[in-house]
Amino acid sequence: MTIAWIALACCAATTTVPCYGQTATGIPHLQKQGTATQLIVDGKPFLALTGELGNNTATSLENMQPIWPRLVAGNMNCVLAAISWAQMEPAEGKYEFALTDGLIQEAQRNNLKLVFLWFGSWKNGLSSYAPTWVKRDYKRFPRIRIRGGKSIELLSTFGDASRDADARAFQALMRHIKEVDGQRHTVVMIQVENEVGVLRDSRDRSEAASRAFAGPVPKELMDYLQQHEDTLAPELKEVWTSNGSKTSGTWEEVFGPGKPDSVDMPIQTNSPPLSQEEYQSGWRKLHWPADEFFMAWNYAKYVNKVVEQGKAGYNIPMYVNGWLQQPNMAWPGTYPSGGPLPQVHDIWRAGAPAVDVLAPDLYLQYFDEVAQRFTRNGNPFFVPETSANAANAFLAVGKYNAIGFSPFGIERSVGPDNELAAAYHVLSEMAPVILAQQGRDTIATVLMNQGDAPKSVKLGDYTLSLTYIGRGRVPIAPEPAAPAGRQQAPPPQAQAGGRGGQAAQGPAQANAILVSSGPDEFFMCAGSGGLRVAFTPGLPGPATVGLGDVQEGRFVDGKWVVVRQLGGDDTGQGEILTLRANTAMRVTVYRYE
Ligand code: DGJ
Repeated sequence: MTIAWIALACCAATTTVPCYGQTATGIPHLQKQGTATQLIVDGKPFLALTGELGNNTATSLENMQPIWPRLVAGNMNCVLAAISWAQMEPAEGKYEFALTDGLIQEAQRNNLKLVFLWFGSWKNGLSSYAPTWVKRDYKRFPRIRIRGGKSIELLSTFGDASRDADARAFQALMRHIKEVDGQRHTVVMIQVENEVGVLRDSRDRSEAASRAFAGPVPKELMDYLQQHEDTLAPELKEVWTSNGSKTSGTWEEVFGPGKPDSVDMPIQTNSPPLSQEEYQSGWRKLHWPADEFFMAWNYAKYVNKVVEQGKAGYNIPMYVNGWLQQPNMAWPGTYPSGGPLPQVHDIWRAGAPAVDVLAPDLYLQYFDEVAQRFTRNGNPFFVPETSANAANAFLAVGKYNAIGFSPFGIERSVGPDNELAAAYHVLSEMAPVILAQQGRDTIATVLMNQGDAPKSVKLGDYTLSLTYIGRGRVPIAPEPAAPAGRQQAPPPQAQAGGRGGQAAQGPAQANAILVSSGPDEFFMCAGSGGLRVAFTPGLPGPATVGLGDVQEGRFVDGKWVVVRQLGGDDTGQGEILTLRANTAMRVTVYRYE
């Protein structure tokens, strides 16, 4: 019945919700389910438990050889690997696809999916992966100019030839991927460019750019802002309204003054004359928004053309990633100005409708805050770069309906014996039921620190009270009986070495995803710490809740397989539910009086 429930949920999703792409052929595409957007591969939602390789790690098959088995041992089902424009098109019109083919074949051999990163015109703002034949021809492929008229190695968005050359190469790549992988669907998504935006100044000050900046905000953008007035990002709306909510005018008339050319741009914003207060708060404010909005529009238009051309070659989901504004990089130009950051998501949506996902490179400690800002207005959530923080993987997947989670430089940290591997293991065991409920109110995620008071979560027809009990495997010796629902003191520090097999690492935290999968039925899984779970009924009727089936197990080919059926000592003689670290569970409950 569990599976029937899941199947029903999936079926409802596919029949009632508009789709972003093809469905019939099994080609990867995005599909809405409630508030979530999921990546569908071969007709099924796919949860990308992945990592991003270092920039140049996948530049040869030889270099990749020892890495593939480690990715598999780290319980990953997908990997993000860069394709460099320079390497793929060493001479104009001459394409080299042997490496792409080899990566696809190796991924297949290792049963992994691939997300390719197209390092085209830009990588971390700059243009280091553009081919040398592009870099040499600076008249045909112009650079930006920063304060004082200086050019830097950063292609200008005001270079149609650059855009067209990039789009041509990208289309050739996508056509080729379709040819070699259009049936097998190893490549499930593409990142287009990398962390675009102007560095070292708040905007491009080339002649063409300055002319456009002094001209009117394009009508297309003004219309979009007016049509979406009610849902605009509050930061953008505030800038627009505080400058008079104009419906036409130059960039500075509509969005206020840009940075004067005379103001120098520091590399970072972490030194005096910034006060401590400015340092803490500055990165949450907009500075010279006219410049940033102008650049966002121009990057969006350029990237949209590249994406459109790529999709004409092979139409699979495509995203762009953003280098975030942050304490040391608070002013546009210290972070790439115009990249797909939350304050300019509306501008990106207006200028780049072909882009499916605006994604954060999320290294900041404020994971929740950033995730919330990136999921406004239904933007699908995908974290292409982050640190290997297992708790955040749970948050991303359970709370923000992520398509996937992907620590950067994965070849350095991946392995079988760490918290990420354990988290990926348990998330993959639970993936079918998580994916069936993402985007609905039948799924919840909790994150608890040692010492936290119990937390309550309303789920299905019950309220679940959760108490932190510690990391690792909890003792299986008899524990003092207590009725379900009563708060328990945490047991003596739980033994290390839960199913992930790792010793204590990271902060003492428990993170869990809880799913109400049907009436009186729950699935739940925990990361590196365990939890006690007690149920209180939410509907009138008998007040006492009993534990029915308590099963540790996993989904295999969509079916729940029981590994341990629990009772007796492991459930406090039927009265205490313990969700152990790195474990997935199915639990049924009943009520009596
Ligand atoms: C963010 C970039 O997008 C990556 O390609 C890489 O350069 C990392 N920073 C390095 O930390």
